[in-house]
Amino acid sequence: MKNTNHKPIMLSGIQPSNRITLGNYLGAIRPYVQTADMFDMYVFVADLHAITNTFDPETLAKNRKEVVCMYYACGLDFNKVKIFYQSDVKSHTELAHILTCHTTLGELNRMTQFKDKAKKAVGNGTEMIPTGLLTYPVLMAADILLYDADAVIVGADQKQHMELTRNIAERMNKKYSKRNGGKPLFVVPEPYILKTGARIMDLLDPSIKMSKSNINEKGTIFVMDSPEVIADKIKKAKTDSFNKVKYDKEKQPGIANLMEIYAALTGMTLSDIEKTYKDAPNYGVFKTDLIKIVCDELNKLQARFNEALKIYDSKLVPILEKNAKECSKIVQAKTEAIYKAIGMK
Ligand code: TRP
Repeated sequence: MKNTNHKPIMLSGIQPSNRITLGNYLGAIRPYVQTADMFDMYVFVADLHAITNTFDPETLAKNRKEVVCMYYACGLDFNKVKIFYQSDVKSHTELAHILTCHTTLGELNRMTQFKDKAKKAVGNGTEMIPTGLLTYPVLMAADILLYDADAVIVGADQKQHMELTRNIAERMNKKYSKRNGGKPLFVVPEPYILKTGARIMDLLDPSIKMSKSNINEKGTIFVMDSPEVIADKIKKAKTDSFNKVKYDKEKQPGIANLMEIYAALTGMTLSDIEKTYKDAPNYGVFKTDLIKIVCDELNKLQARFNEALKIYDSKLVPILEKNAKECSKIVQAKTEAIYKAIGMK
């Protein structure tokens, strides 16, 4: 690790573009909680990312607050982890412009997430594609490089954006280290991709990630879903005709996905789960058990979420504001070094 005097720096964030999903919880928020002691940790609400696609301001306001309350509900320690709103730290957008000038259109056009999202914005060639969708990964690179982050907890779908971030950092290090006292301008960050729970798939289409933006909401479990809704979604989750609880991602991707959710929530291994249900005639008992496991976990989170809502204005907002001020100070020196290195001084 490059940053030898302290714990390594970890930075990550969640985009408040919809309600929080079980995938966000297992793939991001829970890993933040689990690794909080290993890192000097920055976790933010990526609200500037949420405006890169069409959005409604009322919904955005509600969703960004939900992310904060969900961080609290999942057990992130607001006194240890630096939690803040991205838009409160102005250097993010400032650095994004500088990085945009060091990124090519070809690189951004190759990002698969951009291609997928752009495809959905249909109409008249590129006329309906917000430019923010294209520059999204540069803003993400700015988030990361601003803090000299050593590690970034991300889902597997963000690997390509991490690669771009590393490329931009290396490219600028090469060009500007001479004007930066011979030292690299940026720390080149490592993605920290988790094994279990990192990639929860859609319940109806297990070939795509469980995501807030999927067309059919029935394939996505939201953390705030009621027990009835959860039961219905799991009952209707796509399985297949083998009727065996067996982990086979190729032949039974639906059941494999449900088993991963089961494993992530119970701590059991996949083979333990296979053994538990080896005599079951079909998926019924497994699904009934999974419904209970998911409902129990989300029930706990929902209770704490409601607690967080109550203290949001009085306790959480002051902490967020204090953190944003501290973060602004921390990144200011960095921003100045960057301006100097590129010839603004
Ligand atoms: N793009 C990330 C996602 O959708 C969210 C994000 C924005 C992020 N900026 C970041 C994650 C910086 C890690 C670090 O998951």
